[in-house]
Amino acid sequence: MTERRVIVIAGVPGVGKSTVAGTIAERLGYPVIGVSELALKEGALLGRDVERETDIVDLPRLKEIIAEVVSATEGPIIVEGHFAYDVVPSNLVSHALVLRRAPWVLKEELRERGYSDEKIRENVEAELLDVPLVEAIEALGPDWVCEADTTGRTPEETVEEALGILEGSMPCRRKLVDWLGSPETRGLLEGR
Ligand SMILES: Nc1ncnc2c1ncn2[C@@H]1O[C@H](COP(=O)(O)OP(=O)(O)OP(=O)(O)O)[C@@H](O)[C@H]1O
Ligand SMILES: [Mg+2]
Repeated sequence: MTERRVIVIAGVPGVGKSTVAGTIAERLGYPVIGVSELALKEGALLGRDVERETDIVDLPRLKEIIAEVVSATEGPIIVEGHFAYDVVPSNLVSHALVLRRAPWVLKEELRERGYSDEKIRENVEAELLDVPLVEAIEALGPDWVCEADTTGRTPEETVEEALGILEGSMPCRRKLVDWLGSPETRGLLEGR
């Protein structure tokens, strides 16, 4: 029987994955793998998408590497990244936490990072349309996927919520947010 012991932390860029994963890893003493960092380190890249300003990751190769890393470790292990649900073999996943943040707040975070307008638009749209949630459920099945909304919360509060979900003292929630139904979305779409 395969052991489900990988904790996936996913969500669009800037939502707080590395911050939350790093603190949980420290608190629980679990190892943590950053997907982008691992892809770079292992050269699991197919090239550069110049227009989208990102590296093109070799997903099948990265999945193999992650399976190897997991089998070489004991106990729970955290894998965090934008599309982390696509690079962890689904039969190894014990929890997949999709971090969410209101698109209008996310937009400011990505602006501060100096991202291009196009890259901001793409990621804000993905958040608006629940893309990480839908993709995580597609890749892993609904049973393992939970969401946490980081909007207006401190990193510490999000870490507490994530720890609660992992240990079962907090409910695993899906369909948590409704950005499209929020009045702020109108301003966002009108470019205000
Ligand atoms: N509730 C929250 N949870 C996590 N991070 C938060 C929260 N509120 C604000 N932040 C801040 O948001 C920023 C998120 O950055 P972080 O690098 O962790 O995001 P990321 O999802 O790993 O991005 P990337 O995909 O680009 O690696 C940090 O500065 C963090 O302190
Ligand atoms: Mg990160």
